Amino acid sequence: MIIGVPKEVKDHESRVGVTPAGVKALVEAGHTVLVEHNAGVLSAMPDDEYQDAGAEIVGSAYDVWRLAEMVVKVKEPVEKEYRHFREGLVLFTYLHLAPLEDLTNALLEKKVTGIAYETVRDRAGALPLLTPMSEVAGRLSVQIGAEYLTKEHRGRGLLLGGVPGVPPASVCIIGGGIVGTNAAKIALGMGAKVTLIDLNLNRLRELDDIFNGRVFTMASNSYNIARAASEADLLIGGVLIPGAAAPKIVTRHMVEKMKRGAVIVDVAIDQGGCIETAHPTTHSDPSYEVNGVVHYCVTNMPAAVPNTSTLALTNATFPYVMKLAKLGAGAAIREDKGIAEGVNTYNGVLTYEAVAAAQKRDWKSVAELV
Ligand SMILES: NC(=O)c1ccc[n+]([C@@H]2O[C@H](COP(=O)([O-])OP(=O)(O)OC[C@H]3O[C@@H](n4cnc5c(N)ncnc54)[C@H](O)[C@@H]3O)[C@@H](O)[C@H]2O)c1
Repeated sequence: MIIGVPKEVKDHESRVGVTPAGVKALVEAGHTVLVEHNAGVLSAMPDDEYQDAGAEIVGSAYDVWRLAEMVVKVKEPVEKEYRHFREGLVLFTYLHLAPLEDLTNALLEKKVTGIAYETVRDRAGALPLLTPMSEVAGRLSVQIGAEYLTKEHRGRGLLLGGVPGVPPASVCIIGGGIVGTNAAKIALGMGAKVTLIDLNLNRLRELDDIFNGRVFTMASNSYNIARAASEADLLIGGVLIPGAAAPKIVTRHMVEKMKRGAVIVDVAIDQGGCIETAHPTTHSDPSYEVNGVVHYCVTNMPAAVPNTSTLALTNATFPYVMKLAKLGAGAAIREDKGIAEGVNTYNGVLTYEAVAAAQKRDWKSVAELV
């Protein structure tokens, strides 16, 4: 199969869909990989590494899309990429179609097979291509929070771990899933006092075991959240209700009661945020203040560490790339239920129920079409 890897064009997106290691494995399996000039450069993967691995470097995005049978990307295509769509093309990338009607229409009109990272499922029913980015964002949230707590960044001027004779900072993490667990690991490692809040009591039991009692766990209710927020130096939002907008469980009133110079990192901002005063920000202008509380609400945090993020993402996506290349999309969809779950558009038909519900349109299961 001919696989195309274009350079990402979305604002501040610095990851790339396939690494030189992935190229080598694909080429060894008999496939051709076309990589756009400088596609990996922001992830510290220059053209010569791709070339050494067996890729053909192609000068323009236009040619990569035109010649490839399957395009592997990171972010959903932006408008200027729609013109590359054509019948029969397989597109494997994050798509996030629910709020993107124009992109959905373009994929359907051109009969592109759109396979979305975020809806591919593994045998356990989990979402394996979302997990690595939550791991990165969870760990990064504490690193960034610690930075914003410094005086330089208008924070309280606190060292997360304290020093002998001076107590550590209090970190409150709401949501004990992938983001929350990874945030807790790093916060504990840096010596902070960590409180984890979740709705799911069984999850809190697991976390209590995992962290051997070193993390304080609390059941999620507005009383506990208000109390924990008022005591927190760093508050991290990591709740998720799959397929729904994040609930605003930290209210404006709670933020008003927080300490001046405290820091909020709302990781859940990509689902609307779980903190009422949070609004989406970008890497070029990441933070703002409300009532003296610093807010950091960047929707694509992993792009800050593209080398780690590209490697983490492609570790997870690559086995699927290999399977799609080996079998072709049709056979891979028939054979692998998890890949079939990833198909959002197929031959001009919308094939993902949640996207159809969000856009109030008809859909069909891909199993009926392949
Ligand atoms: N900003 C970014 O760059 C970025 C990157 C990766 C992930 N995310 C987002 O981070 C969020 C968390 O992702 P995840 O992978 O950890 O999800 P997850 O499903 O692993 O964990 C979510 C947790 O939230 C808990 N929860 C749900 N409702 C709650 C409530 N009312 N109170 C307390 N806890 C509640 C759930 O029980 C679950 O344990 C998602 O919105 C995800 O999209 C953002």
